[in-house]
Amino acid sequence: MDSVLLFFYRSPVFARTTLANMKFPQLLSLLLVSLAAVHAAPISHDEVVSNAAKGLRLLSLSEGADPVWKTPDEVLDLMRAGTKFFDVTEVFEDQKDWVKPEGKVMKSVEAFPTPSHQTSVKSIISTLSTSNMNSNLASLTAFNNRYYKSSTGASASTFIQSKVQSYIDTYSRSDVTVSLFSHSWVQSSIIAKIPGSTPSNPIVIVGAHMDSINLSNPTSGRAPGADDDGTGTVNLLETFRALLAAGFKPTSPVEFHWYSGEEAGLLGSQAIATNYKNAGKKLKAFMELDMSGYFKPGSKEVIALEADYISADLNTFLRALAAAYSTLPVTMDTPCGYACSDHASWYNAGYATSFPYEAVTGNDDPQIHSAGDTTSVSGFSWTHSLEFTKLAVGFVYELAI
Ligand SMILES: *[C@@H]1O[C@H](CO)[C@@H](O)[C@H](O)[C@H]1NC(C)=O
Ligand SMILES: [Zn+2]
Repeated sequence: MDSVLLFFYRSPVFARTTLANMKFPQLLSLLLVSLAAVHAAPISHDEVVSNAAKGLRLLSLSEGADPVWKTPDEVLDLMRAGTKFFDVTEVFEDQKDWVKPEGKVMKSVEAFPTPSHQTSVKSIISTLSTSNMNSNLASLTAFNNRYYKSSTGASASTFIQSKVQSYIDTYSRSDVTVSLFSHSWVQSSIIAKIPGSTPSNPIVIVGAHMDSINLSNPTSGRAPGADDDGTGTVNLLETFRALLAAGFKPTSPVEFHWYSGEEAGLLGSQAIATNYKNAGKKLKAFMELDMSGYFKPGSKEVIALEADYISADLNTFLRALAAAYSTLPVTMDTPCGYACSDHASWYNAGYATSFPYEAVTGNDDPQIHSAGDTTSVSGFSWTHSLEFTKLAVGFVYELAI
């Protein structure tokens, strides 16, 4: 190699093209050639199509690192080991032009208000019903599992859609809609929309995931998913019901999302966040509710704010909401980690997110992803979960009214 360089150095061709003399395009191509030499070739369209057709999945395992191909068995092993990831197989190409936010905490994207509609919000909160939440959860846990690729997972999705439609009908709100967001697998995500009187205003979104998983046997094993994420799912259903019952007609559009396939790598939320961002949709804020029904017996009962892939300003707003509308103190959790829940899909798309969680990590539900995730677990509490429904009512009302 040295002798070759020497040859170029001494040759008249090299003398005429020293770096200083190079035109910008020449310099750029030299840089690109050297970069290509040290990095693997970028993932091409053909590679995505052919590997996906073979059943391989493209996983993003950590921030800033290139995603990697895994077999379905390797994907399951990662889940069993508790490794969180984005499965980007179906969104990778649609996100190619994205500039992902730097760091794990977003600052000052939006100004959030001080809670100022306490009379109205408290009056809606007084109508919230844990018995509605309980009965909806009983329907959800009655499915053998809500795995995103199982037929009972698909039926759970239909159940949520019908329940939302029944609230729309009960409260005669023909302006409110519910629809399926379908995917390449059988369980659809569900989106309910309350229109804003100023439709161009940024959208306020609350989300939860409808799917559950039995890690030893995902397709047919029992996975009641009462807490993960049956609780978040029914927090949203009851928030939606109570707002409609109160005749809530916001200025800004409001959406309720129930995601498919969270447990398999945030599949539903990534598909929707990617669709929204590429359509140029503006969001005021996104809040995820994923597990709200448990805190370890004997531990201090709190609302734990997840500390990463969130907006610091939105967390400040949540603290003010909790002070106004919840009986629980707020504390910061330890970082939840990469791809920890659906909020991360929205954070990646550059939107302001928050994720209030049932307890600090370690005091949260130890039974998730198993046949034991039921409401009979000691530490499961409807009054605890209700605090998160209150938070969701305050979140939607104060941001969208
Ligand atoms: C998965 O389901 C099977 C059968 O439905 C059950 O026996 C097993 O305990 C479940 N696995 C876990 C991790 O709970
Ligand atoms: Zn979950």
